[in-house]
Amino acid sequence: EQNPDYDLSKPLPSNGLGLYQKLPSYGDAHFSLFMRKLFIKAMGYSEDALSRPIVGIINTYSSFNPCHANVPQLIDAVKRGVQLNGGLAIDFPTISLHESFSSPTSMFLRNLMSMDTEEMIRAQPVDSVVLIGGCDKTTPAQLMGGISANKPIIHLVTGPMMPGNFQGVRVGACTDCRSNWAKFRAGTLDIEDIAALNEELAPTSGTCGVMGTASTMACLLVALGMMPLNSATAPAVSSARLRIAEQTGAYAVQLAKNPLPPQTLLTKESFLNAITVLQALGGSTNAIVHLMAILNRHPTLAGTITPATIDEIGRKTPLLLDLKPSGENYMTDFHAAGGMPALLHELKPLLHLNVMTVTSRTLGEELALHPVPRLQSSSPLSGIIRPFTQPLYPSSSLVVFTQGNLSPSGSAVLKASASLYKHLLRHRGPAVVFSSSADLASRIDDPNLPVTPDSVLVLRGIGPVGNPGMPEAGLIPIPRKLASQGVKDMLRISDGRMSGTAGGTIVLHVSPEGADPDSVLGIVQDGDMIVCDVEQRLLSVELDEETIRARIEAKRRRIASGEEKSAWKERETIRGYAGLYAREVNGPEEGVDFRFLTATGPRG
Ligand code: FES
Ligand code: MG
Repeated sequence: EQNPDYDLSKPLPSNGLGLYQKLPSYGDAHFSLFMRKLFIKAMGYSEDALSRPIVGIINTYSSFNPCHANVPQLIDAVKRGVQLNGGLAIDFPTISLHESFSSPTSMFLRNLMSMDTEEMIRAQPVDSVVLIGGCDKTTPAQLMGGISANKPIIHLVTGPMMPGNFQGVRVGACTDCRSNWAKFRAGTLDIEDIAALNEELAPTSGTCGVMGTASTMACLLVALGMMPLNSATAPAVSSARLRIAEQTGAYAVQLAKNPLPPQTLLTKESFLNAITVLQALGGSTNAIVHLMAILNRHPTLAGTITPATIDEIGRKTPLLLDLKPSGENYMTDFHAAGGMPALLHELKPLLHLNVMTVTSRTLGEELALHPVPRLQSSSPLSGIIRPFTQPLYPSSSLVVFTQGNLSPSGSAVLKASASLYKHLLRHRGPAVVFSSSADLASRIDDPNLPVTPDSVLVLRGIGPVGNPGMPEAGLIPIPRKLASQGVKDMLRISDGRMSGTAGGTIVLHVSPEGADPDSVLGIVQDGDMIVCDVEQRLLSVELDEETIRARIEAKRRRIASGEEKSAWKERETIRGYAGLYAREVNGPEEGVDFRFLTATGPRG
């Protein structure tokens, strides 16, 4: 029998599955297929294997990435799921980002990873793709790229790590990293203890074991419908995680045969559900930036949701999850208490249940398949997912400031549920201003720093352009002289981000950022009075319009004369990816994405 692929009298299927897709352009389609097949056969595949739908599996393993250490086992399990269901699984690499090994900051590289993901999905003949990721910036990068490429995708997260033990108390990355470092700084933990703790904070592979950015994004992938309901919380080192991977492979084959690309699957209601879940989790502030970037990759949804929407939904959404940093427990506890299915059942009154998911069933149908797990009344886990009517925090775990001259873009955000001193949620105090992370580092512990517990610590120059990547430097430490007196929280404001695992009364994502010559944050001076009123969603510096204008004019003159260095001005002269980043990055209210990658940008 003759192979029809070589019958020159018959045209090749123009939109066939697998190898027939997107043939490289040698001019002659039959020859292109002939070339493609001869090369892939060098990997040992048979004609039979190559006749199947192809499920691509994105491999983000790196020996620098402990959050992704289980990726090789996950790939094996996904392949099993694909091949048991009649598909051909082919894994391929993209870049891998870990929070601690992505200098200057992983956010700087998130958009690069999204481009890598998008273009490799586009370039290769995959019918559907399993996106394996986990560490903070990887899942958003993958979804951003996946939406732009718009082939069917399904996410698989690596899963959270287990907690460790220190002096008989459970500890986990990285809320406990920060709280114990603060104790060490204040002198209540000695140098031997801090060294011993270093061995225990990340005791297994997997993502940070609290409700930081990685866990938040995993839960949001479920809420968006991009990942099956049970897939967010199983530990990285569990056999459940491997069974989830196998199941993901099976769904990926289904998606290859009945394509449900992300631009079709995702609707405005999918995003509203994700925001409801974000508020109920007390999730990471970073997730707001990522959600905006993800949304703005979607051609018809771009611009339909803003940070103000997150605030509006927050006002009617209770915080239900008692996990660090807003509460006390770890991801393994959330998983054992029923995980996302249990949380989603509690949130049902606020969710749009008719949205589609990657299983080709609606969220409502999925919930019907995952009944409420029952916990024995004596179970210590019973308080972790609170009933809708007995929340941990009544509403607005994440607050967005929509009023006031310090949040003119409506992007400044505060995780109110993680504030240690609630009186700071309505506070007026004098600014102590730091113009960069370096300035902060050199002066924050100066015994002569004129600072009191009522001062408002202001840090600028850590926005997307000012310090490319917008580092997680917003957790301004309490000045040592106050920390040693027992002060644990102060009102802090910056144009940067903060790790999702951190807590305190910390306002982030002020935009326009300080580096922008027109920024109000950029002209605040020591002693200016700052007002923060969470109830009113107000963040202001008490300066009249005229003073603000005059200070901005003076600053512009200093920049023009070269007297003041300006990251804004220097952007044009930077080479390579850093230059691309500085010139193209948009603000946190839009997702800190590159303008040319958004759906409304030139390519969309
Ligand atoms: Fe990877 Fe925290 S460092 S999830
Ligand atoms: Mg983090």
